[in-house]
Amino acid sequence: MNSDDPRLHSRRSKTVGAVLHSAAVYDLTVWLATLGRDGAFRKEVLDLARVAPGETVLDVACGTGNLAIAASGRVGPTGTVYGVDASTEMVGRARRKAARKGATAAFSEGIAQQLPFPDAQMDLVLSTRAFHHLSTKGRAECIREMRRVLRPGGRLLVVDFIKGARRHGPLAHFHRPGSVRLEDLAALAKDSGFRGVESGLLQSGRLGFVFATAAS
Ligand SMILES: C[S@@+](CC[C@H](N)C(=O)[O-])C[C@H]1O[C@@H](n2cnc3c(N)ncnc32)[C@H](O)[C@@H]1O
Repeated sequence: MNSDDPRLHSRRSKTVGAVLHSAAVYDLTVWLATLGRDGAFRKEVLDLARVAPGETVLDVACGTGNLAIAASGRVGPTGTVYGVDASTEMVGRARRKAARKGATAAFSEGIAQQLPFPDAQMDLVLSTRAFHHLSTKGRAECIREMRRVLRPGGRLLVVDFIKGARRHGPLAHFHRPGSVRLEDLAALAKDSGFRGVESGLLQSGRLGFVFATAAS
C-alpha cells in the first residue's frame, strides 16, 4: 500500500496522513508480507529499543497493537505501555487483542502530530512502519511531539521502510508501501532535541531504524 493511494486517506480523520480503517485486512497483509514472521520483527525492534521491566512505553501509530502488546510483556507488571493510533478500527482491534491475551497495554485514538500525553512521561517512544504515512511536515511535528512526551534521557526508536530497498515475498508486486530516508529522520531527530542519533538496517534489509536519546 502506498500512502499516496487515495483509498487510504480518511474522510473522518482530522489529521494529515494515511489512516487505515481495515484492521483485519491490515493484519492479513502483514502476515502475508512477512510470511508469518512478524513476531521476529517485533522481537528485533524491542531488543533494539532495550525495553526493560518497569518502563513506560508509547507506541505511536500502533496499528492493531501487536508491538505494544509484546512490549507489555517486557515491561511487566510494574511498567506501562500505551498505544495510540488515528484509526478507530485499528484501536478497537488492538483493544480486543489485548483483552483476549490478558495484556495490560492501553490503547487510545489520537494523532501522531498531537500526542494525547503530558510532557516527559515516557521512558521510550516507538513507532514502526508509520512515518511513511505522514507528510514531511507531519514527520517533523511527530518527532517534536515524541521528544515532548519523553523524559530527559528517554529513548526514541523509529522504524520504517527505507527508500530504494529491495522488495521480496508473495506481496512484493502489489504491496508497495511508501518509504523514508533514514538520513532525513536522523536529521529531524537532531533538530528536535535528540542526541546520540544512530541509524541502520533491520535484519530484513527492507526496514531501517533511527535510535536516539532525548537530551536533558
Ligand atoms: C502501516 S500501519 C503500521 C501499524 C503498526 N505500527 C505496525 O508496525 O504494524 C500505519 C498506521 O499509522 C496510522 N496512522 C496514519 N497516520 C496517522 C497519524 N497522523 N496519527 C496516528 N496514526 C496514524 C494508521 O492508522 C495505521 O494504523
